[in-house]
Amino acid sequence: MNFIKVNTYEELSARAAAIICAQVIMKPDCVLGLATGSSPLGTYAKMAEKYSAGEVDFSKVKTINLDEYVGLNGEHDQSYRYFMNNNLFKHINVDMNNTYVPNGCAADVEATCKAYDELIKNCGGIDLQLLGIGYDGHIGFNEPDAYFEKATHKVVLDSSTIDANARFFASRDDVPTTAITMGMNGIMTAKKVLLIANGKGKKEIVEKAFFGKITPAVPASILQLHPDLTVIYCED
Ligand code: F6R
Repeated sequence: MNFIKVNTYEELSARAAAIICAQVIMKPDCVLGLATGSSPLGTYAKMAEKYSAGEVDFSKVKTINLDEYVGLNGEHDQSYRYFMNNNLFKHINVDMNNTYVPNGCAADVEATCKAYDELIKNCGGIDLQLLGIGYDGHIGFNEPDAYFEKATHKVVLDSSTIDANARFFASRDDVPTTAITMGMNGIMTAKKVLLIANGKGKKEIVEKAFFGKITPAVPASILQLHPDLTVIYCED
């Protein structure tokens, strides 16, 4: 594991964007696994800056997002599809037909999950997976459990996750209680994993996840077994 501690969120974002853009420059038709939430906002802004400066071309890239709330369609301003369109995709030259986010409104959730795993497989797996980490150690929406769930699946969100995400909704009651998330297989078979975490509040879970015991009670701890893991953390 490459654990990088930086001083500011600005620096974290610049380093993460540099790693992702280097991946795209090295392999223009690569598959990027992407995350939402507040952690990657700075990274996406820096990626857009690099695109505008002509440093990187996303036209052949495919993107596969980690998760989506069940019940929110892509037009809902708190859906993860909406987040990706507005915070990254519309600022770079990715082909929208090559951007994938689980369909939170699918009539058949089970079939959608299965198809998502097929998609990952058919793309040849993910080249670089970007992750954030929840206060309870979740990655994607893989919440603490008795075992690591391998496949893409529907998950009931922990109340701590609902609390954390309530800041984006009009009220806590508006936060969906279930989501579709990529499982550990999709994440762990990525060739590279880049996890970013910022804020003093994340310090304890970052220590547990990367320097503690590997256990499904701390889902991110499985990443200690990944052969090419970079973690960038700042207290800022
Ligand atoms: C989002 C995701 C989540 C977030 C995590 C941290 O697609 O997969 O695991 O990365 O909840 O969220 P922030 O960055 O808002 O603290």
